Amino acid sequence: MISRRKFFTKSSLGSLALIAGASSSNAKNKDSATDTKLQFSTSFPVVMAPRHDGCEIIWSVTKLSKGHIEYGTTKELGSKASNDGWGLRPAGDKVIKIRIDGLKPGTKYFYKAVTESFDTKNPNPKDSAVYSFRTLDPKSDNCSFSVWNDTHKHKDTLDKLSDITKPCDFLLWNGDICNDWHNEQDVINTLLKPADGLTMSINHPLFLVRGNHDIRGAYATKLQEYCAMPEGKPWYAFKQGPVAAICLDTGEDKSDDNPYLFGRVACEPMRQEQAEWLAKIIETPEFKDAPYRVVFCHIPLRWTNETAERSYDSYSGRSRDLWHDSFVKWGAQTIISGHMHQDALIQSNAEFPYAQLVGGGPKINSATLIEGKADKDKLHITCKNLEGKTLHELSLKPVQ
Ligand SMILES: [Fe+2]
Repeated sequence: MISRRKFFTKSSLGSLALIAGASSSNAKNKDSATDTKLQFSTSFPVVMAPRHDGCEIIWSVTKLSKGHIEYGTTKELGSKASNDGWGLRPAGDKVIKIRIDGLKPGTKYFYKAVTESFDTKNPNPKDSAVYSFRTLDPKSDNCSFSVWNDTHKHKDTLDKLSDITKPCDFLLWNGDICNDWHNEQDVINTLLKPADGLTMSINHPLFLVRGNHDIRGAYATKLQEYCAMPEGKPWYAFKQGPVAAICLDTGEDKSDDNPYLFGRVACEPMRQEQAEWLAKIIETPEFKDAPYRVVFCHIPLRWTNETAERSYDSYSGRSRDLWHDSFVKWGAQTIISGHMHQDALIQSNAEFPYAQLVGGGPKINSATLIEGKADKDKLHITCKNLEGKTLHELSLKPVQ
């Protein structure tokens, strides 16, 4: 794999070079710097919430502007996504977000984002470079994924993770991407340009699972405006090849009425709503018959020491009490989480027939990269430190 940081440093390619998973310093500048003619800047167009039939593409702008996506199965593009579903062209003064529908499963698409000023006499359309992504394919024989967690804006960790994360079907950012949201621009910068203009979605479309810090701070409600979720809620399910994934939001690590939370959160009804949704989704044919069954959520649902007194939840018993029976009924094989800033693997047992894998912390020497690879014989999941040393491994056989 080309190291993107090295590539940025060494590349001398021309202006339209960021195609099909490679990147260039020129393209980085093109999509990150201020355009002197327009007097505003745009960021890399991030591909989020991939589906078998589409995705959403999001980029930041620094002035009120409208935009569209041109896309197609060749570099010539040819199709256009240019409505917001409310009878308007997609527009924004901080972020432009466009949903693309009607794509084919398991297909590579090229795309570029076009941004225009609202000055009708002088719209000055600005094209991003051409990038690519692949839609999910529930019928594929294989699945590959990567998981980051608890990056908490640690630049060195994000840079290193960006370097070592290989191209895969999806990258799942498993919560605590921030240190609470104290201003709106921080939401945009952290989500859409977390690592010095690099982007996490060049080689892998992005799923976000919120962590407890991601719902903290006066500007926490802005995250839902600027990110995309496949079903419009912070919980969702999807299938890539033989792997069925259920992504849940464990919410805060304290009760809703804890004084520390200043009456801002309403996680208890959210967990209950997820319990009702979960009981239904596991009965759908796609999930009921899936060979591999994985749950992603930020706060672990099991922990190595569940009796220790803490001022926060080391495991989300509040969630587990509501969701456990559905996990057992479904045959969930493992939960993948973060939160504790301490990696761990807790094997399944009679009481909890699902393993619990927990990624590490935000500091570069405690951070981890979790990777999964599935084919018809096994789903193999590794948790490595950023030097590449394997800390935990899990090999799962398909559910019969
Ligand atoms: Fe964290």
